[in-house]
Amino acid sequence: MVSIRPAEVGDLLQMQQCNLFNLPENYNMRYWFYHIMTWTHLPHVAVDEASGKIVGYVLSKMEEDSTKKDLIPHGHITSISVLRSHRKLGIATRLMRATHTQMQQVYGAKYVSLHVRMSNRAALGMYRDVLKYEEIDLEYEYYADKEHAYDMCLFFDPSVREKVIEMNRAEHAKKKAEKLKEKETASTLSESGS
Ligand SMILES: CC(C)(COP(=O)(O)OP(=O)(O)OC[C@H]1O[C@@H](n2cnc3c(N)ncnc32)[C@H](O)[C@@H]1OP(=O)(O)O)[C@@H](O)C(=O)NCCC(=O)NCCS
Repeated sequence: MVSIRPAEVGDLLQMQQCNLFNLPENYNMRYWFYHIMTWTHLPHVAVDEASGKIVGYVLSKMEEDSTKKDLIPHGHITSISVLRSHRKLGIATRLMRATHTQMQQVYGAKYVSLHVRMSNRAALGMYRDVLKYEEIDLEYEYYADKEHAYDMCLFFDPSVREKVIEMNRAEHAKKKAEKLKEKETASTLSESGS
């Protein structure tokens, strides 16, 4: 049997190991520690009760840039993975639901966001079809290898949906304009030979 419980500091090495096995996005121990110490109720682990081994985790937090979203409190899924030996058993879904509940009950989150690779069929299936996340944007070349990411949200409070989507769009347009400006400046500099 596999049980789900809040992560503890003593779980961090196994959580990091699980992440290294499963994903190219890795983090140093300080970052793992920071999540667990700051948002104690959010990161969760899946434990195989027979062996005591951690077979999955969700690393999550409350978003710190809430000012950008007009102070709407919201959570963010930093990372989730389940060992290959334990997939397709509903473990990731249980981990996600556990952290969603805590985000709402402990921190008053109105919604939760995450990024996912466009090619990640398994994760997309879970977020979109099972947990009912919505794709609200496409982040161009978001990952280090330049793959695009879907920016997805699950709205716990539907009344914030329009506002969040609108703000996201505005933020995205601003970023795009800044990038364009950077490119124009770079090409002007290279034309003038400086
Ligand atoms: C994505 C991942 C966390 C899913 O874990 P899991 O415990 O196997 O997921 P669940 O059993 O809860 O499955 C939930 C849903 O996900 C989808 N899904 C899971 N594995 C899938 C697969 N191999 N192919 C297609 N859809 C899949 C299905 O919609 C499934 O619902 P269903 O069982 O009703 O069909 C796991 O595949 C994994 O660790 N992948 C590598 C790390 C990763 O990609 N993390 C996400 C980064 S954004």
